[in-house]
Amino acid sequence: MKEEGGVPVRVGGGGSAILLAPSILSADFGRLAEEVRAVEEAGAHWIHVDVMDGHFVPNLSVGPAVTRAVRAATRLPLDVHLMVRHPDRFLEDFVAAGADRITVHQEACVHLHRTVSRIRELGVEPGVALNPATPVETLREILPLVSLVLIMTVNPGFGGQSFISGSLGKIRRARDLLAAEGLGGIHLQVDGGIGPTTAPGVVEAGATVLVAGSAVFGYHGGAAEGLRSLAAAVSSFRHGWRAV
Ligand code: DX5
Ligand code: ZN
Repeated sequence: MKEEGGVPVRVGGGGSAILLAPSILSADFGRLAEEVRAVEEAGAHWIHVDVMDGHFVPNLSVGPAVTRAVRAATRLPLDVHLMVRHPDRFLEDFVAAGADRITVHQEACVHLHRTVSRIRELGVEPGVALNPATPVETLREILPLVSLVLIMTVNPGFGGQSFISGSLGKIRRARDLLAAEGLGGIHLQVDGGIGPTTAPGVVEAGATVLVAGSAVFGYHGGAAEGLRSLAAAVSSFRHGWRAV
């Protein structure tokens, strides 16, 4: 099934499937196709593509051309995270480049309903992301139109930052809001500072899709081992791990 990619990690004794979405931001761009194939073979479910414009966030990264190159390297769904002002200008370009999902920031969209509707019209799955300081309640009206909510657990713009403490409460609030609205099937994604140490806690709080850049592509044993290490940490939750 295209949506799921590899074999989902199951937690909680038959509970929800947890999807792993390695972010190419921390990959070796000189060997990008090889890096992407390595995480696909190791069991990644989606490939996360971080797009930064130097305005919405204080950094530049990649655009449609690199997205197209990743598309050619893998059959996994491409999960494009647009950290850009005025994302509407680029939606068609990313769809043409092979995006399967496009997530925009609530803070970057004056007309979020229009942007999300347009993503759907283009035939890809819309997501909406929140910066750490933006309350989850601001999403209530848009939830029925999206298939993914992304809770940023760092201030977006750079890989390798530390997970912001206090994010677990926000993930729980997002999970509770989705449940209260009868929308528990929406993916609850977390992004920033996710690795074997933080993954069990975010899963317990309700996250269903984990983005990880440096923990996978920066892993000392290589990206495939990094992905397996993350998967093992998530699986440990099933065997009795609990947050303290
Ligand atoms: C941060 C990006 C993330 C980033 C995560 O602005 O949205 O996807 O790649 O990197 P790590 O996992 O290293 O925190
Ligand atoms: Zn991201």
